[in-house]
Amino acid sequence: MKIIMLGAPGAGKGTQAKKIAARYGIPHISTGDIFRANIKGGTELGMKAKTFMDQGMLVPDEITIGMLMDRIHEDDCRNGYVLDGFPRTIPQAESLTEALKGMGEAIDYAVNVDVPDENIVSRMGGRRACVACGATYHVEFNAPKAEGVCDTCGEKLVLRDDDKPETVQKRLNVYHEQTQPLIDYYKKAGVLKEVDGTKNMEDVFQDIVAILGV
Ligand code: AP5
Ligand code: MG
Ligand code: ZN
Repeated sequence: MKIIMLGAPGAGKGTQAKKIAARYGIPHISTGDIFRANIKGGTELGMKAKTFMDQGMLVPDEITIGMLMDRIHEDDCRNGYVLDGFPRTIPQAESLTEALKGMGEAIDYAVNVDVPDENIVSRMGGRRACVACGATYHVEFNAPKAEGVCDTCGEKLVLRDDDKPETVQKRLNVYHEQTQPLIDYYKKAGVLKEVDGTKNMEDVFQDIVAILGV
C-alpha cells in the first residue's frame, strides 16, 4: 500500500503516519525527518537544507526529489510506504507519478488531514520533538511521561527551530501557495481522501483506518 499524507504544517501528518506505519507494517518516510537527521549529522545535505528550513521555506526540488527517489527504491519499500511531507510541490508530485508509472505502479491513497490555520499556531508552540529518535509530543495533547524527556529513548525534547510563531506563519503561507494545489492534483487522480484533523489523535486515526481498511 502506497500512501501520501497531505496537510498543513502541524496538521498531524507525522503523528498519523507513524500510527499507519505501525499498523500496516510499512515504512514511514518523512522528508523533514531525513533533513533533520542530516542537519544533526552535519552532512552537506543537512547544511544546504537548514538554510531553507530555518526560514520556513521549502528545500529546492533538485535536492528533495532525488533524495526521496533513492529512499523509495530501498528494499523495505517493496510492500509500500507512507510518505509524510512529500510531495510538497507540483513538480515533486509529477516526478513521483512518473517514477511509479515507470514501474507499473501508482499511489493508492492521498490522505488530506484538514486543519484550519487558526488551530495550527497553538499546536506548533506546544510541540516537543526528540531529535534522537524522531518521536513527537505535545505539552497539552500528548505529553511525555516525564517533562522534557522522550518516552521511547530517554533523550531531551526540544522545540523545533522552525516552530517559532513567525516561522510557523511563513510555513503556512508557503503551504497555501505551493502545497495546497496538490489536493486538486490527487483529486483528479482519483485517490484523494479527506479526514477532519481537528478531532483528537485517536479519532483521526480511526477515520484513516476506515478508509484504508483493516
Ligand atoms: P516537515 O518536517 O515535513 O514539517 P511540516 O510539514 O511543516 O509538518 P510538521 O512536521 O510541522 O507537522 P505534522 O503535520 O507532521 O504534525 P505533527 O504530527 O508533528 O518539514 C519541515 C521543513 O523541511 C519544511 O518546512 C521544508 O523546509 C523542509 N521540507 C520537508 N519536506 C520537504 C519537501 N518535500 N520539499 C521541500 N522541502 C521540504 O503534529 C503537530 C503537533 O500537534 C504535535 O505536537 C502533535 O503532538 C500535535 N497533534 C497532532 N495531531 C493532533 C490532534 N489530532 N489533536 C491535537 N494535537 C495534535
Ligand atoms: Mg511532521
Ligand atoms: Zn526519542
